[in-house]
Amino acid sequence: MEQASWVPSSVDLDRPSAARMYDYFLGGSHNFAVDREAAKSVEQIFPGMSGAARANRSFLRRAVRYLLSQGIDQFLDLGSGIPTVGNVHEIAQQTNPAARVVYADVEPVAVAHSTALLADNPLASAIQADLRDPDSVLGNEEVRAVLDFDRPIGLLMVAVLHFVPDEDEPAAAIARYREALAPGSFVAISHASWDGVSQEGRESGEQVNAIYRRTDSPLVLRTGAEVAAFFTGLEVVEPGVAPLSEWRPDSDDAYISAYAGVGKKV
Ligand SMILES: C[S@@+](CC[C@H](N)C(=O)[O-])C[C@H]1O[C@@H](n2cnc3c(N)ncnc32)[C@H](O)[C@@H]1O
Repeated sequence: MEQASWVPSSVDLDRPSAARMYDYFLGGSHNFAVDREAAKSVEQIFPGMSGAARANRSFLRRAVRYLLSQGIDQFLDLGSGIPTVGNVHEIAQQTNPAARVVYADVEPVAVAHSTALLADNPLASAIQADLRDPDSVLGNEEVRAVLDFDRPIGLLMVAVLHFVPDEDEPAAAIARYREALAPGSFVAISHASWDGVSQEGRESGEQVNAIYRRTDSPLVLRTGAEVAAFFTGLEVVEPGVAPLSEWRPDSDDAYISAYAGVGKKV
């Protein structure tokens, strides 16, 4: 397929991406034919995917508002995705116009669109980075220019850790981020899970994952206990690591087979 001039040269237009499929599920337009085709195949197996994506976005919004209520005014959003309605800087700067945000994603289209969107926003920026390499994220010049690590930060890893397999040591990466954060910082996580999913549902899930294996980001669903372990060393706030739709709900979102939680570094 011919590459449009705005598309970063590192993008392979013959291969779907999890970021751009997620954009499609959310009704966005920053996706290509190969992504739409893969996303439609997922929807055929699991028609609830768009509702699940919206429910996850809704958790992101609730978590950011909670962190704002706790006095957090700077955010590092890892696996931030393609910008869509209700981005972290929009939610944060509505409440606190001085709030600062750095978005980081491994996917070049997500970063290109985020950078364009933030061109006039001196308090927010986007970097291309892999969260599995915490030292490169934490040492990034842009990250250091926007965020002050001597003060509390809200670290967001929303719907991203289920793209990080155990062999890439997600717990060790989280520990490294946790060490770098000042006391009073928070970590928010949402994560897809098999818990409570029927045998039939799991079989459908395996078919969905066969599609995600064509991307750079195959899915790794984890149990509630495994997700809770990602909060080691943090004080988990109420209601704990909970089914996502039960984490401080404020609207009637679709049920989603995922856990969510927020932990504080004390
Ligand atoms: C499902 S989207 C979630 C976007 C946003 N956090 C949200 O919840 O709405 C997952 C994002 O994680 C990104 N991602 C996957 N693996 C990553 C990694 N190792 N480092 C950084 N980003 C990653 C993908 O490119 C994609 O944009």
